[in-house]
Amino acid sequence: MNTVSYYSLSTNQQQDFFNYLSQVRDPSPAFDNMWAEDWNAKSNTLPYILNKTEKFRPGSGDYFVVYDNDTIVGMGGVCYSSFNKFIALAGVRTWVNPHYRNRALLKEHLLPYHRAWAVANKCRQIALTFNDYNKNIAEIFKRNRAGTPRLEHNLFYNGLEELKFPVIIQKTPQWVIYERLDSSWNFNWDCISQK
Ligand SMILES: CC(C)(COP(=O)(O)OP(=O)(O)OC[C@H]1O[C@@H](n2cnc3c(N)ncnc32)[C@H](O)[C@@H]1OP(=O)(O)O)[C@@H](O)C(=O)NCCC(=O)NCCS
Repeated sequence: MNTVSYYSLSTNQQQDFFNYLSQVRDPSPAFDNMWAEDWNAKSNTLPYILNKTEKFRPGSGDYFVVYDNDTIVGMGGVCYSSFNKFIALAGVRTWVNPHYRNRALLKEHLLPYHRAWAVANKCRQIALTFNDYNKNIAEIFKRNRAGTPRLEHNLFYNGLEELKFPVIIQKTPQWVIYERLDSSWNFNWDCISQK
């Protein structure tokens, strides 16, 4: 497996990435945010965000594509949160090729890059957020499969904390799990809780 930043790909490789997305048929609601033929007009879609916003550009975040030789097998981004510059949001616009699911691909080949970005950019917490409709996905990060302890490069190496209430991030209720990268730093998540 090879994990690379979208912004380090050549123009042809970026085009191949979009061609791949255009061919995916995935009925999951999360895929609505990944591709649309008219993505130029849809600010929620991944191509729009990558091409027309700063969200994942150097200085704000990064977006990674995971390859198995030439096959695109996964993708996802990390960026500063909109509500606190010391909190990074990881696993943003994350999607795994259905042929590569159930192999913990994210654990070893995507999320370590997000954690490394957060550490390098002096973030003090790193969080994964989930919409109400996919909050069950948080469970897959909470458990530790037998024989696979979290090492220092793994997300949640310092432990996983979970908010018991939803917060509002960009006007949307979100469920949050997070890791403290700096144990001496606190954030009052109540201040963005859904009232
Ligand atoms: C969510 C997703 C990234 C997980 O990728 P993955 O490589 O299969 O993840 P893992 O191998 O680490 O974990 C697999 C586990 O997640 C579970 N899982 C996958 N999708 C799920 C969902 N929508 N709801 C609940 N659990 C889910 C699987 O059942 C499996 O659990 P099991 O081991 O008990 O059988 C992948 O299913 C995907 O790309 N889904 C569509 C996009 C999406 O939902 N993105 C939002 C991510 S926040």
